[in-house]
Amino acid sequence: MDVTFDLAAELNAALQAAATRAGLEAEAFAPEVRPADPRHGDLQANGVLGYAKARKLNPRATAEQLVAALPADLLNRYTVAIAGPGFINFTLKPAVLLAWLEKHDTPDHLRAGAASLHANRRYVVDYGSPNTAKQMHVGHIRSIIIGEAICRLLEFCGAEVVRDNHLGDWGTQFGKILYGYKHCLDPEALARDPLEEFERLYKAADAACKADPAALDEARQELVRLQNGEPDAVALWQQVNRLSIDSLNRIYARLGVRYDHFLGESFYRDRIEPVYRELIAAGLAVESEGALVVFHPEHPRFAKQPFIVRKSDGASNYASTDLATMVYRVGHFDANGIIIVTDARQNDHFEQLWLTTQKWFAATNRRLPEFQHVTFGTILGEDGKAIKTRSGDPIKLAALLDEAAERAFAIVTEKSPELPEDERRHIAEAVGIGAVRYADLAQNRSSDYVFNWEKILAFEGNTAPYLLYAVTRIHSIFRKLGLAPQDAGATACATVPETPAELALARKLVGLPAVLNVTTTQLRPHFLCTYLYELAGEFSGFYTADKVLVDDPAVRARRLLLCARTLLVLETGLQLLGLRTLTRM
Ligand code: ARG
Repeated sequence: MDVTFDLAAELNAALQAAATRAGLEAEAFAPEVRPADPRHGDLQANGVLGYAKARKLNPRATAEQLVAALPADLLNRYTVAIAGPGFINFTLKPAVLLAWLEKHDTPDHLRAGAASLHANRRYVVDYGSPNTAKQMHVGHIRSIIIGEAICRLLEFCGAEVVRDNHLGDWGTQFGKILYGYKHCLDPEALARDPLEEFERLYKAADAACKADPAALDEARQELVRLQNGEPDAVALWQQVNRLSIDSLNRIYARLGVRYDHFLGESFYRDRIEPVYRELIAAGLAVESEGALVVFHPEHPRFAKQPFIVRKSDGASNYASTDLATMVYRVGHFDANGIIIVTDARQNDHFEQLWLTTQKWFAATNRRLPEFQHVTFGTILGEDGKAIKTRSGDPIKLAALLDEAAERAFAIVTEKSPELPEDERRHIAEAVGIGAVRYADLAQNRSSDYVFNWEKILAFEGNTAPYLLYAVTRIHSIFRKLGLAPQDAGATACATVPETPAELALARKLVGLPAVLNVTTTQLRPHFLCTYLYELAGEFSGFYTADKVLVDDPAVRARRLLLCARTLLVLETGLQLLGLRTLTRM
């Protein structure tokens, strides 16, 4: 039997074709195939109801016509039932479940199937994007974690992804940093931790400027010299950025993040003049109190609160830089879609950016890409306020990751004291960082969430330790048998799933494409988290109900097949979320 990865898309296409054969107005009909409530089936077509109602037809009769026009080979694969006022429920026959599981037997086959979802699309994903000369704190972690998961998911589903770090590496703060570097540098501190030293230099310079007008004047001069391209100022600024990127890269490496580009704000500084000219020529930008601004008269708020693209002192800003960035990403990368991941406080900025871009691109005959601002809420402490250290400072990202690994090490040591220390450390890094990551992804990203070490490191519930442990448990089943999980020999004579637990697990596995689809169209990784958690639950149910190592070779083979595919989907899913999976813990 030939089965596709995305059964819902296949069924949707078949129903669409059947609509023509059944004499429906096919262009006006959308089958709307969705995952069904498992009590009623695997897939449900909801489109008949609206279509029939609008034409005063009997929806059940229309549904019957449609089903009768489906090709025989499709009808052989499903049990079909028309329910309620014209929903069509499709339940996969066990033979289809088996064929699907047999076909999707390796990460590559799974990937090949998933590639149908976003093939031929290129996305520029702008995530992380911190400011240089500063340490990253906990506020930066969500953009990195969510952005990386989105990149991996889109890539897996067939898209080409350009990972771009839009560093804040240009701006007025550099006048003070350069001043501090010249007057207050501690070379040893710089060698130890450049970002900490740059932060200290900035603070020292800021204090000096407040206390002494001469210092303020000098810092301003440094900024002007940098903006005018004086070689010594530029060299120093470059050094600050180079050291910053090296430090950032250490954290990215720990999180398994590799950028394709670091096109920071400075990259666009010579690309901004034409933006002003075009916006003015198109009648979009006007002078207001010395600044250049864009009003959006049709918008309730932005009719009065304009998008400021050039400051009254003539300097470019975040807005003009982002406009130039839009042009570059469409032109240079030929992107179909641009995705920017920041916290929800930047909503207004990106809404105005997108409104402006649409009008400007229309006026200049540019191709308009898709644009998505992926936002997220705040990580809260137990007190319900943005999480802080005891002393009230933001928690440094590097310190958070260290603490995660340390706490996980204590747990692993308690559970498996017999393992050698280096293995316990290796496990602890995966569990600790995985726990932080998973906790961030498991909630709908739009919400704030309360960070609690005990909860995220627990072995029960929708957590990384629970899922990582489920993976190692399946590995150990195969280890005890002396088999490799993807060894086809052990599962070759598998028969169709039969018991309720086998069927429930198989149906859950076959639901993967629908989950990848909703996760990547909404760019909300929590859908995949929920699915993996439920899958692990189905597996537990199956493993408790049905013994795997039975004598009957066919039953044993099909149960091993279910074990192997659960493992494949869990490992693949967790890796897409950015977690490192383990074979034992
Ligand atoms: N550097 C900014 C910040 O720290 C985020 C940049 C996001 N990307 C962009 N193209 N504006 O808030």
